[in-house]
Amino acid sequence: MKTLAPVAAVDVLEDATWLDPVVAIEQKLSHALIQPQWLRDILHGVPQGHPLHPVLVQLPLGAWFSAAFLDLVPGSEDASRRLVGAGVVASVPAVAAGYADYGDLHEQQMRVGLVHAGANFTAIGLYSVSWLARRSGRHGLGKVLSFAGLSIAGLGGYLGGHLSFRQASGVNHAEDVPHRVEPGWHSLGPVDELPTGTLARRTVGEVPVVVLRQESSDAVFVLADACSHLAGPLHEGELTSGTPGEGPCITCPWHGSTFSLRDGAVLNGPATAPQPSFDTRVVDGRLEVSLPGAG
Ligand code: FES
Repeated sequence: MKTLAPVAAVDVLEDATWLDPVVAIEQKLSHALIQPQWLRDILHGVPQGHPLHPVLVQLPLGAWFSAAFLDLVPGSEDASRRLVGAGVVASVPAVAAGYADYGDLHEQQMRVGLVHAGANFTAIGLYSVSWLARRSGRHGLGKVLSFAGLSIAGLGGYLGGHLSFRQASGVNHAEDVPHRVEPGWHSLGPVDELPTGTLARRTVGEVPVVVLRQESSDAVFVLADACSHLAGPLHEGELTSGTPGEGPCITCPWHGSTFSLRDGAVLNGPATAPQPSFDTRVVDGRLEVSLPGAG
């Protein structure tokens, strides 16, 4: 079956490099405006372990769909106006979460994200004017503006779906690791050949892992190397000591997600999913690793 024209058009949009000057400005603004880091983490969805933006967009869209239905029912003008206004208000946190995510995408995702955001801002503008028109008694104009807003929000939603399901933004890029690692223990070679106090890349079967052999305690920590955010190479990241409770941490070189090397927990986003963490043991001088839940 051939790819439908809209998907092909968005594929072209992914490579629209002429958008890049605006993309770069918006990326800087995302990081400048949405601060501090704890706020970015909440908006990314780090505490709940899932991106927050897809959840928050349900609120304005639900209100606006309901308003569209009521616009077809005579005598529902007041309820419809309230729903239109509620949708505009509910769009504020959805925009904030999306804007936080936008600043930590790769270039092709940001080009699509820019148009996605532009469509949604246009829809919010149309609904805002619709609410004003309805409040001044011009219900016919308000309905026309609302249906125009719903159509453009539909385009924004289509691009959001492309971002999520075609370009894999917001998904867990380490989800495949337990399915690619055989159950049981795997040798990573003589433990003495591992450098101490620095990150090293090894492979378990075909799965890359990042290894830290601590100088102080000889403890060895092993995580999947491809960052759960967008598959950045963690072995090229920055090693930090972390707090006593966290132990050593690793910060991704691409967008700065920070994971505990002890258990792969996300300490800072944009990643929302933990990094697969291997159990380790030393047998006859050789380091062995095993991934809980593998297979
Ligand atoms: S790839 Fe984005 S933070 Fe690691």
